[in-house]
Amino acid sequence: MPRPDRQKNPQFSRPKKPQGDYRTRQPAHEYVLEALPGLEDVAETELRAVPLARDIRGLRFWYPGDPERLTRLRAPVAAYRVRAWDVPRPRGLLGHQQLGELAAFLAEVVRLGGHRSFRLAAAGRESSVMQRLAEELQVALDLPFDPEEGELLIRLRPQEDGLGWEVLARITPRPLSARAWRVCNMGGGLNATIAYAVHKLAGQRDEDRIFNPMSGSGTLLVERALLGPYDAMVGVDINPEAVECARRNVSAAKREVEVARVDALHTGLPDRSFDLIVSDLPWGDAVGTHGGNAALYPAFLTEMHRLCSRQGRLVVLTHEIRLFERLLNEQSRWHARELFQVYSGGHHPKAYLLGKR
Ligand SMILES: C[S@@+](CC[C@H](N)C(=O)[O-])C[C@H]1O[C@@H](n2cnc3c(N)ncnc32)[C@H](O)[C@@H]1O
Repeated sequence: MPRPDRQKNPQFSRPKKPQGDYRTRQPAHEYVLEALPGLEDVAETELRAVPLARDIRGLRFWYPGDPERLTRLRAPVAAYRVRAWDVPRPRGLLGHQQLGELAAFLAEVVRLGGHRSFRLAAAGRESSVMQRLAEELQVALDLPFDPEEGELLIRLRPQEDGLGWEVLARITPRPLSARAWRVCNMGGGLNATIAYAVHKLAGQRDEDRIFNPMSGSGTLLVERALLGPYDAMVGVDINPEAVECARRNVSAAKREVEVARVDALHTGLPDRSFDLIVSDLPWGDAVGTHGGNAALYPAFLTEMHRLCSRQGRLVVLTHEIRLFERLLNEQSRWHARELFQVYSGGHHPKAYLLGKR
């Protein structure tokens, strides 16, 4: 998530920091990141580059710095502050002392994130204990309880060592995958954390000439544009609404990327125009049909072979796994390897990295 504008977005307004190296004087808090299943390694790599993050165990870590830095992570879907209580069951959190500590812990997260409502996520969230907890927190936090859409997502779960219960409080009102640049959404739009992972694993080179055929709402374009320099980047889609949507998102991200209404199979562009081609092909459900894809996919591979430079890379993300792997097995012009398989919104697409033989 890009750095929020504090003037426009009071969610991240905080008291002025003390002068000097304030970070070393801040107490560390424990945090946990949540990534889409399949993207945990990408999220951990990004986490390891956060200065001051320490004692990193998978996606769990201690951090004394400004939590706003964590709201700018792009591989995880959420970041939570965590605290554990030495209670055998959630009922123990209703004790006077525990409830006071829990309310103070959550109030601090609300102060940083500006959440306007809360919800609880726990096994048995309909139970009488959870209902009591919701009632108590409603008063203590002075926030409405909204069981479905509450902005402060509070997860309760047993500690791994089984000795107590831990509470995770999501530090942002919306998931990190809900990017500030996304002002236009389309059916079939890619989760932005997947687009980030595609680019990180495809390799990021300043001299890349990048092509995103079938760019839809422009998720792959914007996520790459935000990563840093490249030589050129072009997106095309056959649907004029998608082109308009991608342009709006690119502009909201304050980047310049050319997006045009062009059939990706007949671009008319010269041979070997691109060093990196990334595409989220129609999956045959929300976008495209399975029958149509049987013709589209081979034609796509042929045209991309023409447009890809000799040492170029082609990344294909698809849920049409059987069709795509059969096509790979039947051809000899590309070598391919799987980059990842991710679980998202009931789908489990795979990303493949192809190179010319
Ligand atoms: C799965 S969607 C891409 C979603 C996109 N990654 C996003 O985040 O919004 C596939 C896109 O391919 C486009 N498409 C299908 N056939 C095409 C073709 N021959 N040329 C260009 N675009 C095409 C569709 O209009 C659709 O926008």
